Amino acid sequence: MSNSQTRPVIIDTDGGVDDALAIVMALNCQQLDLKAVTVLAGNINVNQAANNVLRVIEIVQPKQTPLVAKGCEKPLVRPPFNAAGIHGSDGLGELHQFKNADGSPRYPQLTLEPSSEDAVDVLLKAAQEYGSELAIVALGPLTNIATALQRDRNTLQKVGRIVIMGGAVKVPGNISAAAEFNFFVDPDAAQVVMESGIPLTLVGLDVAMKAPLPRKDVENYAQKQRSLVSQFIADCTGIYMAFYRDNEGFHGCYLHDPLAVGVAIDPSLVSTESVYMVVETEGRFTSGMSLADLRDRRDESTFPPNVDACLEVDTERFMKLFYDLI
Ligand code: BDR
Ligand code: CA
Repeated sequence: MSNSQTRPVIIDTDGGVDDALAIVMALNCQQLDLKAVTVLAGNINVNQAANNVLRVIEIVQPKQTPLVAKGCEKPLVRPPFNAAGIHGSDGLGELHQFKNADGSPRYPQLTLEPSSEDAVDVLLKAAQEYGSELAIVALGPLTNIATALQRDRNTLQKVGRIVIMGGAVKVPGNISAAAEFNFFVDPDAAQVVMESGIPLTLVGLDVAMKAPLPRKDVENYAQKQRSLVSQFIADCTGIYMAFYRDNEGFHGCYLHDPLAVGVAIDPSLVSTESVYMVVETEGRFTSGMSLADLRDRRDESTFPPNVDACLEVDTERFMKLFYDLI
């Protein structure tokens, strides 16, 4: 059993820059008992993604080190599709470029190693052990979670909730006009999870794009609060933020994955609507699109709502939580 003050949580992640910020928050949050970080391919390949998670843990140095387990190397059906062009060639802002004053690497060889356990087994074991107390916070494509459902549906269905960073309900996609990146990479897995019967909270682009982090704020924070963590945050976000500067005219980034952790900590940060949602697995132009039935005359007895979709966020309160935890 977990301490009654804390909730057992697993983060499932593809090891990118905003994933790293989300993991910093979770490691520093007393209300969450981060049991494990399960890793999969998405922003970057699974080995590099696991190294990125270990890097974050090594920098934060939490009292209790969560297990880090590698899982799926590619989507259920599709070929892999990464975002190295956005997150950097290592998925984490190309940390090898940073040196100390004496020329030594600021981010030397890792000392931590991933577990030999398979991520999907870790998810199933945790579902069995913690049941409805357990929340999974999914920050990448949903391949590990879908694979766990396919391997042992009854056991995974014991978890209390999955908070998913993914999809877009009333706003356009980001990787395509129709699709958000995590659902685009593995639409088949996203649809398996939509059909899981597990309570789902969808932290999609509707709210994630309302949580911007300007570059100048990160630089001010790193100046004022000098630490290994603030230096790391300033370093790893450089390339990611330059992508938004060059492509969207905003020098900063969106806190997609940190917001999902924020919602797992404090669901009152967002307002949600229960909707019936499917994910397009085949569309020529719409692959990975999350489609919510928003019609007034929707038939909820045939298509019962399967997702609590976040539509509004209290950005000010979320940003306070973010800074409190980094
Ligand atoms: C999502 O895509 C990834 O690149 C980010 O880490 C985030 O999980 C946003 O669409
Ligand atoms: Ca991610």
